[in-house]
Amino acid sequence: MGSQLTVVVLAAGGGTRMKSKTMKVLHPIAGRTMIGHVLAAARATDPVRIVAVVGHQREAVSAHIREIEPDAVLAVQEEQLGTGHAVRMAVEAAGSVEGTVLVAYGDTPLLQGESLRWFAAEHEAAQCAVSILSGVVDDPYGYGRVLRNAEGDVEAIVEEKDATAQQREVREINSGILALDADFLLGALPRIGNDNAKGEFYLTDVVSIAREDGLTVGAYPIDDVMQTEGVNDRAQLARMGAEMNRRIVDRWMREGVTVMDPATTWIDADVVLEPDVTILPGVQLLGATAVAEDAVVGPDCTLKDCEIGVGARVVRVHGELAVIGAGANVGPFSYLRPGTTLGAGGKIGGFVETKNAAIGDGAKVPHLSYVGDAEIGEGTNIGAGTIFANYDGVQKHRTTVGRHARTASNNTFVAPVHIGDGAGTGAGTVVRRDVPPGALAVSSGPQRNIERWAQRRRAGTPQAAAAEAAVGDGPSGEQDVAES
Ligand code: UD1
Ligand code: CA
Repeated sequence: MGSQLTVVVLAAGGGTRMKSKTMKVLHPIAGRTMIGHVLAAARATDPVRIVAVVGHQREAVSAHIREIEPDAVLAVQEEQLGTGHAVRMAVEAAGSVEGTVLVAYGDTPLLQGESLRWFAAEHEAAQCAVSILSGVVDDPYGYGRVLRNAEGDVEAIVEEKDATAQQREVREINSGILALDADFLLGALPRIGNDNAKGEFYLTDVVSIAREDGLTVGAYPIDDVMQTEGVNDRAQLARMGAEMNRRIVDRWMREGVTVMDPATTWIDADVVLEPDVTILPGVQLLGATAVAEDAVVGPDCTLKDCEIGVGARVVRVHGELAVIGAGANVGPFSYLRPGTTLGAGGKIGGFVETKNAAIGDGAKVPHLSYVGDAEIGEGTNIGAGTIFANYDGVQKHRTTVGRHARTASNNTFVAPVHIGDGAGTGAGTVVRRDVPPGALAVSSGPQRNIERWAQRRRAGTPQAAAAEAAVGDGPSGEQDVAES
């Protein structure tokens, strides 16, 4: 690209139509805030500087911008006196500007860096003082109209409220994105007045100022006008969210991902997928989730900031900050909480909840269990209905289970406790003390059968009748039968 670029992002307006306590540009779409998308597009132009103009809720907006774009210059616009005034604040905060200044808005989430680069290049190649990224739309209502003379040269931008009925017929609109020669801009800003329908300092007045000075103005219609569309209310937020998702899903399909039902598949902007991933219906891949090749995800999964290994199978899972190893199986109906890692070939099965749990290669927690603050060694099998009791009511404690252990059903591991390599447990064991390697832990007492209990204590019930029919006149009283 030619000369150096400064990108100014305007985000001082209140966005009252969102009817939200959250500032408009901080509303999320596809896992980033709206302004986050715009800043990413700005960054992609490789600018010397990004300047963001903040006003409403400036603390929250500034903090967010500092987080994602720490080098951005923040300009405060105390009162929203118009886009021209906002750019003046930006230029003052930046100290100096040279080359080309691109002005964009913080509420256009579909904007792509590529489009900004193309637009800036056109502007520079034509040596314009000002260029307008325009668009030709069916319904131009509300937008500034691009006015051209008989030769097709751009003369001015007239705002909806200031336009004549005839000017309102014009369907070429100002998207809001302008490119300006920095020197021209510095001279033009003080010349912008506010004698108009809104009493605002319109940045768009730079167009007629340039024409007065005999300078060139360009207008470059963008084919994909949705990229410049702003979000003003929640209905638009949903529409733009759906459109962004459609674009993201489309892109991944072109990269070799099978998506059975694009309409019910939601993929955030920062998700990474490898070729030959398959996504079944009803899946949300959120945040920084990454899925490796040949993995099959779905149906019906929500995975946020998760890593899914090569060839893993994940069915009806709700997961956050979990790492699933290659060839592992998860679900259906599993709840993976932060800090879950499952090794290669491992299994987390139905109705299993895990948290801060490192489950080794080939280890399995197949059924109806809670695994919290735990480490399970490779090849170990945890019996159905096992609770890792990590919380004593005051503090959390850890449980470790060694390699190739075999624990039985309906166990409780009362942390802190360690079960050694190759150890085992009996059904219903409550493990309160460490189990040495290779030992079998059994905690329940011998079984007692109290004969004819039903006939005596539940006489006259169907239970007693069934028992009577089965045993007839059997022995009465108590008899202890030792567990085998
Ligand atoms: C503006 C343009 C219009 C264009 C339309 C595209 C002007 C005068 N008009 O109109 O030609 O078709 O955008 O959407 O530029 N902002 C500030 N400080 C201010 C005023 C606005 O930061 O003092 C920010 C807003 O937060 C918003 C953007 O600038 O992100 C546009 O402001 P808005 O008032 O919505 O301008 P429009 O009337 O839509
Ligand atoms: Ca607007």
